[in-house]
Amino acid sequence: MKTEIGTDLKIAIEQLQKGELVAIPTETVYGLAADGTNNLAIHKIFEAKGRPKTNPLILHFSNSEAISPYIKDFPKELEKLAELFWPGPLTLLLNKSNLVPDIITSGHDRVAVRVPAHSITLDLLKNLPFPLAAPSANLYGKISPTKTEHVFNQLKGKIPYILEGGPCNKGLESTIVGMENEKLIIYRLGSISVEDIENVLGFKPKVNINSNETPLTSGMVKHHYAPTTPLFFIDSINDIDKTNSYGFIFFQNDFMGVSNKIILSETGNLNEAARNLYNAMHTMDSQGFEKIYIERFPENELGRTINDRLKRATAKFEQ
Ligand code: TXA
Ligand code: MG
Repeated sequence: MKTEIGTDLKIAIEQLQKGELVAIPTETVYGLAADGTNNLAIHKIFEAKGRPKTNPLILHFSNSEAISPYIKDFPKELEKLAELFWPGPLTLLLNKSNLVPDIITSGHDRVAVRVPAHSITLDLLKNLPFPLAAPSANLYGKISPTKTEHVFNQLKGKIPYILEGGPCNKGLESTIVGMENEKLIIYRLGSISVEDIENVLGFKPKVNINSNETPLTSGMVKHHYAPTTPLFFIDSINDIDKTNSYGFIFFQNDFMGVSNKIILSETGNLNEAARNLYNAMHTMDSQGFEKIYIERFPENELGRTINDRLKRATAKFEQ
């Protein structure tokens, strides 16, 4: 199959209505979208990504009202978050109605829903009679795409169309929130920080991002978001490369004076670092280095989300 990249909404609409896959831009990362009510189309997502069927999908809508038929109720705490953060990088787990196919939720009672903040994709959603099921548009376990070229490199030949929407503005996946026994829980750290949610609620939400049993979200899987080149945290000055065969990703500082490096934010801005992170990882991964080293982030705001992703991305290569 030939994979085209373009800005033509009509092509995207046609392909999605035919039950084909289209990669779509969002403010977090690019998504791999299909008609969220069409079982055959949804199956193609799992096939193209090599993703296990036990891993449920997020449904994307143009606004809150459009979600109503697909859920049973909307707890008021979550409704408040939706009002404040949608369109935006917030995913809510809500009790699903019968309209949601079981393959979307992997048989769970709750469905993940979100209204993305990207004008092209909101336009697309408004022109479709169904929500879009969309995981990140990468191969399973690999780094999420924040540019169309990242999608193309991983999925070319497997999907007909990639809708161009420029580089993703946030660069980290959405924050996943739900309720258990009337308590609000964060299930995946994301583009909205714990502090952002705490500020709105007036108390610290519970964070449950690791699962020893069957992972509830892929953000809970220990090995994830990984490049092909072995990736390690910089732990000491001894990690400096003497042979020039390692690549380095720094937050703000260039303290080691090495040559193969990307600095994520010269001004030490966490939003900017988040926006640049996955692109830096894709870029370093394509350069044939023996190893990539990356600096740890401060454990607050988006630094916490970045460290979470990097722990999972480096876990595979731990000796
Ligand atoms: O920012 C994002 O959320 C991006 C863009 C494209 O919207 N999407 C994304 O999807 O990151 P994905 O599939 O790569 O990650 C979604 C996570 C998965 O870890 C999945 O297990 C979890 O959401 N999830 C989806 N439905 C769920 C459900 N019903 N219950 C629990 N977890 C769920
Ligand atoms: Mg993903």
